[in-house]
Amino acid sequence: MTKPDIKLKNLFHPGDGRIPPYLAGRTQEKKNFQDSVDLLMQKSPANQNMIIYGPRGNGKTALLRYLQELTLKAGRDELEILWATPSEFKDIVQLVGLIAGNNQNLIKKALNLFEHMFDNLAVSANISMASIQANLNRPKNILAFKDLLWEKAKRKPFILIIDEAHTLNPDIGHVLLNASQNVRAEQCPFFLVLAGTPNLETTLSQASASFWDKSSTFPLGRLSEKDSHKALSIPLESCQVACTEEASMEVMYRAQHYPYFIQIWGSCIANQLIKTDSREVTLETLSKVEDEAITKCSNIYIHRYDELNKMGLVPLATDIGGTFEENDNLPIPIHELEDTVRISLQKQGEPTTHEAIQENMRKLIHVGYIWRISAPNEMVKEVPLLCYEPGIPSLMKFVRGQRIPKAEMDVILERSQNQAKG
Ligand SMILES: Nc1ncnc2c1ncn2[C@@H]1O[C@H](COP(=O)(O)OP(=O)(O)OP(=O)(O)O)[C@@H](O)[C@H]1O
Ligand SMILES: [Mg+2]
Repeated sequence: MTKPDIKLKNLFHPGDGRIPPYLAGRTQEKKNFQDSVDLLMQKSPANQNMIIYGPRGNGKTALLRYLQELTLKAGRDELEILWATPSEFKDIVQLVGLIAGNNQNLIKKALNLFEHMFDNLAVSANISMASIQANLNRPKNILAFKDLLWEKAKRKPFILIIDEAHTLNPDIGHVLLNASQNVRAEQCPFFLVLAGTPNLETTLSQASASFWDKSSTFPLGRLSEKDSHKALSIPLESCQVACTEEASMEVMYRAQHYPYFIQIWGSCIANQLIKTDSREVTLETLSKVEDEAITKCSNIYIHRYDELNKMGLVPLATDIGGTFEENDNLPIPIHELEDTVRISLQKQGEPTTHEAIQENMRKLIHVGYIWRISAPNEMVKEVPLLCYEPGIPSLMKFVRGQRIPKAEMDVILERSQNQAKG
């Protein structure tokens, strides 16, 4: 394989949290992060903590990995970034252990600060092994945690990134969120960044009532049309590959501006180009890769479908999919979609109270089935319309596709039985 082909082969990065070859869009998020880093470099705290939330596959992890890499390159040794997910710290002691790292001075400080938690355990330098007392002494922990953050950040400005933060344990969240607000108020050069799926708001509100409102929040939806094109064309151009206008439009139509799908299509296209030793993407290239791309994109649907099924949401999700299909998948104002939910619940013999409707919509938002946006309002320009749009594109089509009417199913079964008979 020649050198340009090797670059092409590994060009696109479909998968969890991988930094894409070109991270398209997300201008406001990048700017907010950069502004906070600039403040930290001057030994000041970030103006606000940062929260990024959105349906799966929209690029929360990729964006933060990109920002982390960029910051470390530019800031070199002048600041420290810790990346963690809640699965790495089951209790506050483990989080303290992660923050202290293998800095012996900090470990000693942490042991002093959290002395009240270690009971009579023989505490070693490996503090993550210590078990937490069942009854958390919250105010004491917040104070101790705050002091630990100060100890850490006074050595080097400190950025703590917690991905998958919607899985944060509320007890740990309570200590972390409150302590982080307190240190920032005391001018500590600290910056907390949280990312998670749309239920992050609920998780954080359980941990600290005011945290969400006091943070800079960034909903991460799909890419704009312009940015989607860039996500495909810029990496291809870097390998001297041209993409015809119609081919690019077709990929965008298929990927529906969903970053994860753009990477899938990009990698299938790149492999095809290598196979045919070509440097141009045309509609014919796409016809050769479409089966593979569709199969790869479908894997995400199966997982989401199982999730909906577990929550008993398939019938409602099917009806909502129907409403969007009738509306050409365009955004639907909130109250209109609530009508669909009401009718669907009624059909299923479920309660149709305001609370029941809201609860069901909340669950659908959490799994990324629907996603709230504010759409431009043609009638009153200064009042944008709150609407819902499909969260993960084509998932609705997939869900609806699983509900084949009985009569059609009988025909399919009969046909396959006849085929089996010969
Ligand atoms: N701005 C972007 N431009 C181009 N590609 C992107 C962008 N953001 C994400 N991607 C690509 O989309 C895919 C999904 O991204 P990522 O895993 O970061 O999403 P996520 O929101 O963290 O999903 P999850 O909630 O499942 O963790 C990755 O392959 C990533 O490289
Ligand atoms: Mg992620």
